[in-house]
Amino acid sequence: MSSENKPWAGRFTEATDAFVEAFTASIEFDKRLAPYDIQGSIAHATMLVRIGILNEKEGRAIIEGLEGILDDIERGDFHWAVELEDVHMNIEARLIDRIGDAGKKLHTGRSRNDQVATDIRLFLRAEIDTITEELIRLKIALIDLAEREADTIMPGLTHLQVAQPITFGHHMMAWHDMLNRDCGRLSDCRKRVNIMPLGAAALAGTSYPLDRALTAGLLGFSHPATNSLDAVSDRDFAIEFAACASLIMMHLSRFSEELILWISGQFGFIDLPDAFCTGSSIMPQKKNPDVPELVRGKAGRVFGALFALLTLMKSQPLAYNKDNQEDKEPLFDTVDTLKKCLRAFADMMPHVRPNRKAMVKAAKKGFATATDLADYLVRKGVAFRDAHEIVGKAVRLGVETKRDLSEISLPELQKLSPIIASDVFEVLTLEGSVASRDLIGGTAPKRVREAARLARRDLERSGKP
Ligand code: ARG
Repeated sequence: MSSENKPWAGRFTEATDAFVEAFTASIEFDKRLAPYDIQGSIAHATMLVRIGILNEKEGRAIIEGLEGILDDIERGDFHWAVELEDVHMNIEARLIDRIGDAGKKLHTGRSRNDQVATDIRLFLRAEIDTITEELIRLKIALIDLAEREADTIMPGLTHLQVAQPITFGHHMMAWHDMLNRDCGRLSDCRKRVNIMPLGAAALAGTSYPLDRALTAGLLGFSHPATNSLDAVSDRDFAIEFAACASLIMMHLSRFSEELILWISGQFGFIDLPDAFCTGSSIMPQKKNPDVPELVRGKAGRVFGALFALLTLMKSQPLAYNKDNQEDKEPLFDTVDTLKKCLRAFADMMPHVRPNRKAMVKAAKKGFATATDLADYLVRKGVAFRDAHEIVGKAVRLGVETKRDLSEISLPELQKLSPIIASDVFEVLTLEGSVASRDLIGGTAPKRVREAARLARRDLERSGKP
């Protein structure tokens, strides 16, 4: 296309090179910002009418024209032209086609620089709200599981080795607490997303007496950005979101890893419904945990997007540079990946069924109550270090004779320490051990139920149960 058709063609005498035209265009990916671009333009036009720069008739024509364009786009009846470079110029050109001269006035006091920054912020704000809803759905699934499995004993691991008995409910609430921090981070990030660039124009502000507070109010932004240079060039909010997203994906990758281990034949701690697994084309016996594996794998692309955005902004001089067009693909990919992974988890977790027998059996294998025996000795007056030594000997006896601590007889234990009495077996059972961790944050079933109750109450209080 010759450059005359482009909105900025005035000072050009030669046509754009065809490759350069395609290379510099963003329409392929930024067209998904169309609803936000139109929302921003309607607010801008409404404000221009209020301050008398557009008359009522022009304002109405622009707004109706834009609404019609949105309908066309939603119906799939819109031709996106590469020669018109991006979503902003495509929509503006169509508006002028539709309504004539009034359409040429929409861009008064505005630049694509403040326009694109506004569009991304509107887009991201909406996506943060959707993502938060998915996080809440997942948190509820975990709270439900925690309540249902508050008494279910499993081995708690350190170094991937049996450490102390815990409850499955406690483990689910650990995941819940990680996601709870993620929700807090997203809501904090949203505050910095929700600031309006419009009025910054190209970089220096504009000579028109725009009512920026009015436009901000119309778009639900908390306030206009306070510096025009920063407003058009800032992408901190996108980086901050990518960092929040990376932490969420890191958490999901940890959950995934545990689910993958637990579903394996070696652990056998849980069963995942067939709907969330797939088979092997060669090994008929296989039921693979593809969903958690894929989520674990997808963490990588989200971390990559965070680095892409950081690197994009590194050393960029003020104010807008074309580099910034590169913010969209990593941001969109992060949003899409995160939403899909959260959805997969929120759909899957309500169907996870723990295999209680297998978990108890595993908890019994690793001398999980050794610390309880040491604590028992301390309560009877033995110094902790001496107690540690005595229990170490009991464990060695267990290893040599292939017995759990609870299976060693009282006379044998008394040989190691005469202070041990028959009440020792209360602490050597798995139930006694978990019940004794009865403090804030502890694994006692009573505490797990309490933690789940408080988490549910917080969700209700935030109005998002
Ligand atoms: N497509 C551009 C972007 O995504 C819009 C802003 C273009 N501004 C400019 N001065 N070339 O960043």
